Amino acid sequence: MTTIALLSHAQALAAAAGLVEILIDSVDNGASVGFHRPLAPEEATAYWQGVCADVEKGQVLLLAAYADGQLAGTAQLQPSPKANGRNRAEVAKVLVHSAFRRRGIGRALMDALEAEARRLGRTTLVLDTRLGDAGEPLYQKCGWTKVGVIPAYVIDEHGQPDATVIYYKLL
Ligand SMILES: CC(C)(COP(=O)(O)OP(=O)(O)OC[C@H]1O[C@@H](n2cnc3c(N)ncnc32)[C@H](O)[C@@H]1OP(=O)(O)O)[C@@H](O)C(=O)NCCC(=O)NCCS
Repeated sequence: MTTIALLSHAQALAAAAGLVEILIDSVDNGASVGFHRPLAPEEATAYWQGVCADVEKGQVLLLAAYADGQLAGTAQLQPSPKANGRNRAEVAKVLVHSAFRRRGIGRALMDALEAEARRLGRTTLVLDTRLGDAGEPLYQKCGWTKVGVIPAYVIDEHGQPDATVIYYKLL
């Protein structure tokens, strides 16, 4: 059974070790989520410390997915701080540990993100993901619309450019 929780600042700090493990697992398995493999624990820890600080400031909503009593996945909603962006938010870092994939956890995280976005009145959602990654079929299954492809948007660990796809969903 999967449960999804919206983490407070204190809960995020308490979950940090598990979040570090999930990020390293995803990056080391080839995910393009802002880092290159091998991802050092120090770099992953520094990243999550920053996210925890953003949670405390109310700039990020951090979700955690628990399966079989373990932290199995995470996702973020980043509401736009702009005066003309009060209706929108970005979805980021949708990560499910490789040991827990294809069990509906990614879908459950996306559904929970949507519920939080509705609660906040953020009815325009946007995200980007590397072209061809596992996120694409997930987002399409969740009813997101593909806007288009930006070629050469990110650089892989070999210095080669990769394309990124932009998606949106209107709630
Ligand atoms: C993308 C990711 C979050 C999906 O998590 P997940 O828990 O495995 O996804 P779900 O089990 O909820 O999948 C729901 C549906 O999405 C689609 N899907 C998910 N992963 C897929 C894959 N690897 N290949 C094809 N379709 C996939 C399927 O339609 C799936 O339904 P099905 O299993 O009944 O066929 C996970 O693969 C992951 O963490 N990848 C690395 C990080 C990443 O790239 N994140 C996205 C960019 S931020």
